[in-house]
Amino acid sequence: MRIDVITCLPSLLESPFAHSILKRAQEKKIVELNVYDIRDYTLDKHKKIDDYAFGGEAGMVLMIEPIALLINKLKSERQYDEIIYMTPDGSQMNQSMVNQLSLLKNIIILCGHYKGVDQRVRDIFITKEISIGDYVLSGGELAAAVLTDAIIRLIPNVLSDETSALTDTFQDNLLAPPVYTRPANFEGNEVPDILLSGNHQKISEWLDNKAIERTKEKRPDLWEKVIKEM
Ligand code: ADE
Repeated sequence: MRIDVITCLPSLLESPFAHSILKRAQEKKIVELNVYDIRDYTLDKHKKIDDYAFGGEAGMVLMIEPIALLINKLKSERQYDEIIYMTPDGSQMNQSMVNQLSLLKNIIILCGHYKGVDQRVRDIFITKEISIGDYVLSGGELAAAVLTDAIIRLIPNVLSDETSALTDTFQDNLLAPPVYTRPANFEGNEVPDILLSGNHQKISEWLDNKAIERTKEKRPDLWEKVIKEM
């Protein structure tokens, strides 16, 4: 999979893309991540990429020309399955949306900043608009990092134990059960006996029950969905 992120603040994405699972996925050549700086595509002699909004509203708007130049260049080089714009007024990201995106080959993710991008960028180029939640960030970069991470960890062979993505919270609409590690007894707080029993069937039943218990208690809305889909 190839993900091309377009931003006016590339350094904001450096760290999330250079560590842990995203780093390993790139090293293993399972994923190619590229970050493009909008400023490299402006034809303006002062390298201007934003301007005041028409109509007098406060705040700067990212201009269409450099973004159009860059997106058209990328589109001339390969076909993209989705061109995504990160925005608080997009469809709210969830696990099933991420599962679908993880099956694609080439994606562009455009990050807004300031007041966002000229509406014509959205009208002409964007195929999907995604929000990571009902709150406003200073720009789309952190949201793009969240989306990229959520997608990439689902691609086969990215995680060393492949089953661990399948047992994630939200796959099947269930929250994940609790996990424990050594020591088995911390200052009198003991790990449930069943997990030390070595009985895999019993352990698996216990984990399933805990996942259900946890979902009912913490996310009754998700539990409703599970019941409806039964
Ligand atoms: N840009 C600013 N806020 C955002 C959000 N909540 N989701 C996605 N992109 C954003």
